Amino acid sequence: MKRRLSKAIFPVAGLGTRFLPATKSIPKEIMTLVDRPLIQYAIDEARAAGVREFIFVTSRGKSALEDYFDHAPELEAALRRAGKTELLETLKATNMESGAIAYIRQHRPMGLGHAVWCARRLVGDEPFAVILPDDVIDAETPCLKQMVEAFEETGGNIVAAMEVPPARTSAYGILDIAEDRDPLVAVRGMVEKPAPGTAPSNLAVIGRYILTPAIMGHLNRIKGGAGGEIQLTDAIAREIEETGNVYGFRFRGRRYDCGSKAGFLQATVAFGLARADLGPEFWDYLVEMVAMRRAAQ
Ligand code: G1P
Repeated sequence: MKRRLSKAIFPVAGLGTRFLPATKSIPKEIMTLVDRPLIQYAIDEARAAGVREFIFVTSRGKSALEDYFDHAPELEAALRRAGKTELLETLKATNMESGAIAYIRQHRPMGLGHAVWCARRLVGDEPFAVILPDDVIDAETPCLKQMVEAFEETGGNIVAAMEVPPARTSAYGILDIAEDRDPLVAVRGMVEKPAPGTAPSNLAVIGRYILTPAIMGHLNRIKGGAGGEIQLTDAIAREIEETGNVYGFRFRGRRYDCGSKAGFLQATVAFGLARADLGPEFWDYLVEMVAMRRAAQ
């Protein structure tokens, strides 16, 4: 019998070196798009998909993340005294029900697969989602919710997928397509960061997964792959070989690679423009800026 998805793993142990010096003292997941940290977008998306248990795989130097999801009694009292009810409401989205959130340490940076495996005891014998907060997806129906529907239909492992330019395939997990039933794609293989010119397609895996407990079993056994790290892609590839029960899912929405500076800036512009309170003024500013740049050329 199929089980409902209620747990999600958030691998947040990375050093975030691409954003130094900012990430010297703050976790990159706390960096903000407009006024909300990246991690808040990931949590909201998980909640919208029915997730009730949140598992963070962290590392040293990430305590700001734990504080972020805690109550802030002094701040809340000050806002209450000042009658700032709207801000109090905003803070509520950062609070977790007691016991709903767990933190596990990944003691050494051994790859995404290893980070996911660190959560194996908390996941137990249930399906689970994996959300990479670097990948921010702007969508009418949140991406993970779209995937839950596909999971309920197939009962199989689902990975979010998106076409990327052929020159970029070596930065992603890439799907080998068996049958394209858009938006679902049956796959016959999956390869992590293929060398240029060797990718089986240009359909890339994006940081949203719904996985069955069998994947944890594969993670128990696999050895280091691309870059010497334990790759989640390799565990999923093993499942494809053994059962074929893995699907790519072309989500509806726009993905921003907030693990890169360019992607982060693009997301900032897009989310800024989308805000009712900021968008119109920001638009005027951008138009003026573009006109000035053009005139100077
Ligand atoms: C990870 C995964 C890769 C996936 C990518 C999506 O790579 O290993 O398969 O395509 O996320 O963002 P990373 O970007 O952490 O190197």
